[in-house]
Amino acid sequence: MASNTTSRRETFDIGGDLTVNRLGFGAMRITGEEIIGTPGDEGEAKEVLRRAVDLGVDFVDTADSYGPGVSERLIGEALGDPDGVVVASKAGLLRNREGDWLPHGDPDFLKNQVLCSLDRLGTTTIDLYQYHRPDPDTDFEKSVHAFAEMKDAGQIAHVGLSNVTVEQLETAMEIVDIATVQNRYNVGHRDDEDVLRACERNDVGFIPWGPMYAVDGDEIPEALGEVANRRDATARQVALAWLLDHSDVTLPIPGTSSVDHLESNLAAADLSLTDEDLAALDAVDSQK
Ligand SMILES: NC(=O)c1ccc[n+]([C@@H]2O[C@H](COP(=O)([O-])OP(=O)(O)OC[C@H]3O[C@@H](n4cnc5c(N)ncnc54)[C@H](OP(=O)(O)O)[C@@H]3O)[C@@H](O)[C@H]2O)c1
Repeated sequence: MASNTTSRRETFDIGGDLTVNRLGFGAMRITGEEIIGTPGDEGEAKEVLRRAVDLGVDFVDTADSYGPGVSERLIGEALGDPDGVVVASKAGLLRNREGDWLPHGDPDFLKNQVLCSLDRLGTTTIDLYQYHRPDPDTDFEKSVHAFAEMKDAGQIAHVGLSNVTVEQLETAMEIVDIATVQNRYNVGHRDDEDVLRACERNDVGFIPWGPMYAVDGDEIPEALGEVANRRDATARQVALAWLLDHSDVTLPIPGTSSVDHLESNLAAADLSLTDEDLAALDAVDSQK
């Protein structure tokens, strides 16, 4: 792991060997509406990806189901298989024409999907491949074994989980080393605090998805607005800075389809919250 507190605050070693800046980028929003099909302007979507890397992002999250296929393809086309950028993808959800997300953890399906992901990302080994969501109709352990086999075959370097409980994390860790867990979590939605703490105990990276959801919608939590005003920052920047401060193992992946929003969000890495700010934010009601 990183050798001192300062670097540990700024970077995290995924699986013990892939060092990344903790503030990454989520590439779900570079597809069409409802995360189906192509975006209105593919050139702009690729520009967002390139700008993220220019600004120091070296951890990009995607999934086979974003588009489906579109987000992975755009990453492959825009970035190639870049040295020094960790690309994390996922498998385990099907899409339909209505845009639903349907869990599908069949091992043969998962092994088919990694072949598609490798092709679209233009790589021979995916840095981190995550089981997107446990499938109630497939034995969880069988699905995790499929990821272990992909790792043994060299198709993926590390295995991650997403949308899991502490019990599922512990079950999976008996089968294969788990490098990361990706669950919904933000300053206003902390149902999975127990999963975060389990990740800390096991040096597993915790990727909070929807990191800025607390800011979306009509009502921003009052404390978030107050801290943002006090610090002359946006509420999104404060939400991201809180995630970075709340635990050493968080890897927030704010998503956007806009270069301007990207630049604004990434500035959160330079926002140091005071003890007063943190106390106010810690007291935010966990609702969103
Ligand atoms: N594992 C899972 O089940 C799961 C589920 C959902 C997401 N994810 C991952 O998590 C990542 C982040 O999640 P997310 O995209 O749902 O949530 P998010 O990053 O919290 O929010 C993204 C939303 O906020 C808007 N936004 C971003 N920056 C903004 C800014 N500076 N000003 C105004 N609006 C802004 C975006 O619209 P614009 O495009 O207009 O900026 C978009 O609608 C995704 O990209 C994906 O990789 C994983």
